[in-house]
Amino acid sequence: MFITFEGIEGSGKGTALRRSLEWLAEQGCNAVQTREPGGSGLGASLRSLLLHTSSRISSEAELFLYLADRAQHVEEIIRPALASGRTVLSDRFADSTIVYQGYGRGLDPQELFRLNDLAVKGLWPDLTLVLDLDVEVGLERARRRNQEQGLAESEGRFEAEALAFHAKVRDGYRQWAALHPERIRLIDASGSPEEVFARIAPYLAKAL
Ligand code: TMP
Repeated sequence: MFITFEGIEGSGKGTALRRSLEWLAEQGCNAVQTREPGGSGLGASLRSLLLHTSSRISSEAELFLYLADRAQHVEEIIRPALASGRTVLSDRFADSTIVYQGYGRGLDPQELFRLNDLAVKGLWPDLTLVLDLDVEVGLERARRRNQEQGLAESEGRFEAEALAFHAKVRDGYRQWAALHPERIRLIDASGSPEEVFARIAPYLAKAL
């Protein structure tokens, strides 16, 4: 089973993913966690290129770097794990490109869907959980986390985008989720991690 976690900055997808991993382990499900960008060996270099504050990248160049990261991630990490019977939980996947580069940057979401399909050779998640949260609340959380972890310089590029960009991203996730009700679930990400996980658990139970 392949499950992805999506959402704006500070939506709590990292925490939700870790709790899901623990819960799945309790159910006897052998799951592994990974993330994008940067889930593969090549991806680690691409991640620092993509998220470095000073990199000036055109929307198209950015798109193809994310797709390169994803193609390698699927080939090197995700497919082999699924083939060996593991469940894979990924912090971001193709929907991030469709939403950030599409609804956010203005590229065509349907075209991005096709390009992603090529990059992942048809491997789409069984379940995608979109953590939906007020943009200002999310950004404030992300800022605090970056300061605490000293990430402000190295990974602050997207957090530095205007509020309007993040509002487009949030709205984009909602629109994209509405187009794919069979796979994408919108989760209210307000409240404590326990409250959020309580909203996620029924979907995990159903997917098992
Ligand atoms: P993260 O903070 O969740 O690790 O995400 C890194 C940033 O990369 C986040 O701002 C969203 C952005 N991103 C894209 O714009 N497109 C993509 O395809 C992916 C995977 C991430």
